[in-house]
Amino acid sequence: MTRPVPKPGILDIAPYAAGKIPNKQPGRKVFKLSANETPLGPSPMALESFTRAGRHLQDYPEGTARLLRQALGYAFGLDPRRIICGAGSDDLLTLLAHAYLDRDDEAISTTHSFQLYKIATLTNGARFVAAPETNFTADVDAILAAVTPRTRMVWLANPNNPTGTYLPFAEVKRLRAGLPDNVLLALDAAYCDYVSNADYNMGLELANSTENTVVTHTFSKIHGLAALRVGWMVGPPHVIEAVNRIRGPFNVSIPGMHAAIAAIEDTAHQDKSKQHNRIWRDWLTTEITALGLTVTPSQANFILIHFPETDKTAQAADEMLTDRGLVLRGLGSYSLPHALRLTVGTEEANRLVVDALRDFMTGSKWPRCISTASLWSASASSAAPSRAPPGNRAWSARSSPPRARRKPAPASANSASSTAWSRPIARRSKMPISSSSVSRSEPAAR
Ligand SMILES: Cc1ncc(COP(=O)(O)O)c(C=O)c1O
Repeated sequence: MTRPVPKPGILDIAPYAAGKIPNKQPGRKVFKLSANETPLGPSPMALESFTRAGRHLQDYPEGTARLLRQALGYAFGLDPRRIICGAGSDDLLTLLAHAYLDRDDEAISTTHSFQLYKIATLTNGARFVAAPETNFTADVDAILAAVTPRTRMVWLANPNNPTGTYLPFAEVKRLRAGLPDNVLLALDAAYCDYVSNADYNMGLELANSTENTVVTHTFSKIHGLAALRVGWMVGPPHVIEAVNRIRGPFNVSIPGMHAAIAAIEDTAHQDKSKQHNRIWRDWLTTEITALGLTVTPSQANFILIHFPETDKTAQAADEMLTDRGLVLRGLGSYSLPHALRLTVGTEEANRLVVDALRDFMTGSKWPRCISTASLWSASASSAAPSRAPPGNRAWSARSSPPRARRKPAPASANSASSTAWSRPIARRSKMPISSSSVSRSEPAAR
């Protein structure tokens, strides 16, 4: 019997290995710390806009996401004509590969880079080249050394998932300068909002001033809209035009677009999320390091924890944590079998992880009395509690992280830079395009 056969190479692609989905059990609280979602959830303003847009589900969206592009343009000081929106940044990264990679071409990323780059590269029959990293960090010289006459693209997540490491902007500029002009550099800034180091910049200046650099960003992380699938990309007009030709004609939904516009406006929510993340990222790093484990310094909303290869292994830790309702990300598919990735969670989740890892490292047994319905509530909480969970005082009293409200607000990731491009305008003044002023979507040109 004959049957349809996919193009050569498609079945050689390892499917995207997502993090574990928590196994909910009645009376047991589970914390999903495996997908780099924000523990604070979306802005209430975004939720409201989403709900309002839900009254028009019969309408097709306006196909170019014009209002969202205008809002992004205003917030980031960009020309909306240089912006394209997508169903998550996954959509745009995949479309870039479709537009620019062909059989026998090569695309470079680094050893532990975001899985999608390899999938998107191989899908188009191109070769994926992983340049070696230094200390789990992209190495510009190694990337440049991997360039051949066949290289068409370089993928760089900055900060990178799953390592959490980043390249200072000076290094990114050095990379761009060292690449041939016909090589498209895709800077993936999914985690840029969490960076606190002053030498970082998401790279909009390069997307604006060169013919061969794009920056992608997402509403799935700090904006807490992962379920709605909204992402965007800025770049030279010829790249935006090429990708526009092959994207789905209605690839951004009306609720997604309006929620995203409201999320951009709610800078207070973004600041709160960033501050929460910074405080607890630092605390988790310090506490877990003190347990004798190695943590790669992170500028993202997650940390990479390295375990010994024998005895106290990552796999054993993963099983123990999962048993306690703490779901982290195993990284076998990222060639990091001895590490786990931990998303910064609520105060409650963070404390429980550190307590569990302490027990794991010291060999203490799981205190069975804790795993009762009286401690675990039926549903997982995403709000940061103001104090340690009931019944858990004895554990959490051992270490005292700062309360979020006592910490001064950290500086914006981009505010340290002197370039105008890196300073979101929405942080300084009210946007003229308001999600609340849009009660009904524009009709689709269909
Ligand atoms: C580095 C990186 N880029 C892009 C994405 C995709 O995000 P989106 O939800 O916008 O598709 C992720 C998601 O985890 C990511 O880690």
